[in-house]
Amino acid sequence: MATISKVSIEKSEFGKTEDGKPVEKYILKNSEGMIVDIITYGGIITNWTAPNKDGEYEDVVLGYNSLDEYIKNTPYFGALIGRYGNRIAKGKFSLEGTEYQLTVNDGQNHLHGGNKGFDKVVWTAEEMPATGNSVSLKLTYISEDGEEGYPGNLTTTVIYTLTDTNVLEVDYAATTDIKTIVNLTQHSYFNLSGDFSKTILNHEIVLHADKYIPVDDTLIPTGELADVTGTPFDFRQAKTVGKEINVENDQLKNGLGYDHCWVLNNQVKGIRLAASAYHPESGRLLEIATDEPGIQLYTGNFLDGKLPSKQGGTYAHRTGFCLETQHYPDSPNLPGFPSVILKPEEIYTSTTTFKFSTK
Ligand code: BGC
Repeated sequence: MATISKVSIEKSEFGKTEDGKPVEKYILKNSEGMIVDIITYGGIITNWTAPNKDGEYEDVVLGYNSLDEYIKNTPYFGALIGRYGNRIAKGKFSLEGTEYQLTVNDGQNHLHGGNKGFDKVVWTAEEMPATGNSVSLKLTYISEDGEEGYPGNLTTTVIYTLTDTNVLEVDYAATTDIKTIVNLTQHSYFNLSGDFSKTILNHEIVLHADKYIPVDDTLIPTGELADVTGTPFDFRQAKTVGKEINVENDQLKNGLGYDHCWVLNNQVKGIRLAASAYHPESGRLLEIATDEPGIQLYTGNFLDGKLPSKQGGTYAHRTGFCLETQHYPDSPNLPGFPSVILKPEEIYTSTTTFKFSTK
């Protein structure tokens, strides 16, 4: 007997931007019961449910209930990040002898695409034909030459695919008409307990990385790739976020906790397991695979109890963590790091999968 697939995608209105652009919400559902809500503003994942060990699906990503809140004060909750995820020192870089000055929006540096990065623009959405056991939404954004200081007209597509195996796959692609730089990522803040009043310090993290990237006190890499052995940055065996986050360590001081990029092992072309996060009480396990060379672990160090939670109350310190797959910060200025240059004859591609299960 043929099984009846229950994957579905539904569209509704989510509000309007300040300049009157309509924003839609797409609800992706799979037949297991997982729901991923994505809005066209910033390509933001506003809700994402995952099962606990009793099979109960609960929302596990921080965010807001209204578009106005996302527009007013978002620390990139759930958003697509571009053109360049992470920091570029003083917003400066050179390509073929031309120096470019990007907007400076994080102290003296450029962060996550500038003042109006890909997290703050309205993307064009297209529902992809359903395949039976997965459902996909394609988002497109055309960033004009000079936007936030970047060279080249850049066309970016991001396809979110939810499968019946509780995987959300994110496929990025971009093309340009002038040599430029690109480094795209997804900025969901997870709290696998499903209760956003709790901290994430008890989550057990694994990072498949023998090295990480030390930074200065403005979070710009020193250029060194440092061995994690014997440091609080060793997550090769499962370790809670909280275990060493408060030990005396210059790098933890610079990041105000973990806010660093790890150098993933097995840097051959192709997708491999990069990281996992496990919440013992609920049994929720999140596994992240990617073809990127790096992953940023950010432990919600700047959350300070001021932003309103969608569950009521506010988001306190360290109530969410991000695992952002990416190329290394400040790569355009550090020739030893893998290249982030995109030429007109090339296509930038990058894939990350987020798989939920229980144990
Ligand atoms: C960065 C943090 C930053 C945060 C913004 C993270 O990706 O690494 O330094 O504060 O994004 O919410």
